[in-house]
Amino acid sequence: MSTSDRRPVVDLTDAEARRALPLKWGTVPDDVIPAWVAEMDYAVDPVVMEAVQRALADGVTGYPLERSPELAEAYAGWAARHFGWAPSPEAVRPVVDVTAGVRLAIDVLSGSGGVVFPTPGYNAQHGLAGITGRAEHLLEVPESAERAEIDLDRLDRLFADGAQTLILTQPHNPWGRVFTRAELEGIRDVVLRHGARVVSDEIHAPLVLPGAEHVSYLAIDGTHDHAVAVVAASKAFNTAGLKCAQLVVPSAADRERLDAEPMSRNDSWSPLGVVAARTAYDHGDPWLASLVERLDQQRSLLASLLAEHLPEVRMRPIEATYLAWLDASAHGHHDAAAVALERGRVQLSDGASYAPGSTGHVRLNFATSPERLTENVERLAKAWT
Ligand SMILES: Cc1ncc(COP(=O)(O)O)c(C=O)c1O
Repeated sequence: MSTSDRRPVVDLTDAEARRALPLKWGTVPDDVIPAWVAEMDYAVDPVVMEAVQRALADGVTGYPLERSPELAEAYAGWAARHFGWAPSPEAVRPVVDVTAGVRLAIDVLSGSGGVVFPTPGYNAQHGLAGITGRAEHLLEVPESAERAEIDLDRLDRLFADGAQTLILTQPHNPWGRVFTRAELEGIRDVVLRHGARVVSDEIHAPLVLPGAEHVSYLAIDGTHDHAVAVVAASKAFNTAGLKCAQLVVPSAADRERLDAEPMSRNDSWSPLGVVAARTAYDHGDPWLASLVERLDQQRSLLASLLAEHLPEVRMRPIEATYLAWLDASAHGHHDAAAVALERGRVQLSDGASYAPGSTGHVRLNFATSPERLTENVERLAKAWT
């Protein structure tokens, strides 16, 4: 897309961010820079915002459609344009958010055996297995690993020992990894060997940065009878509070099982979320292109700031997302996030909430202005060294 066709990314001021993002900004004291929750300090794409405002002005506050064919078409069109693979619109169902979609898929489609959750892994999904009444099996990526990968032998053993579902996060938060087609095929082979299932959380797919390419797990041959993907526009377009994600269910038999569930299983998405998602999918490309360019710049800036101010901090390569996984253990702080907050007045996410038992790790959200990111790293350097 040529630069002249794009819509720019607009930074929020501190006051605007405090109003717009009550959790990320509203829960920290005024002298703290929030770099934790995965929301961006950018104004929502004006085209998405106008569509939501128009819908509200039209009084669109009633129950949304149960199936929302336009939303399904919009997602399928978007996926075809961006990933070169798309589900049939038939396969797309609305859900309230991605985490609820992951849970719904496990509840209804998975066997009662345990759920494999690679760690470090998205903190709000730790414990999800337990909520569905299943055991959680953590599959750790060792900190020493040069490249964060799913250990297929270990996955094989966990399935052999009775686990029946893998929660795949593709692209991965907080590893920043985009799994390659070959890696996904390796995972598929293990899953097929055991008749297991995969729930692929692909919320970060729109946020793949230059150098990497998103391949949906569902784009891999032989996955449709055992996998679903949970997708959303909400992470890339900063509309998490509007509540609408999508469950992609390629198997007709799986759809039948889901559709036969009582309505109360899945009826909570919002009509404004549907408007935001449809508009983002149909008309958001000119804004998303600017966003990806900005995040690419922020990724480079972060690398150079760390090299200058915190050369002993190890950062995993970032192929997607705006979340950096940092190993600050060289500085000797057991709880690096607490030290960052107390001494540096920067709110990071504590690594232990992604990888139970880990020490010295944090997740830093770099979807902010270059000035705030610079200030963040300078403050961290003062706090940790
Ligand atoms: C991997 C992953 N899945 C799901 C979510 C949350 O999505 P939702 O708010 O739609 O549940 C996040 C939020 O950052 C995430 O990183």
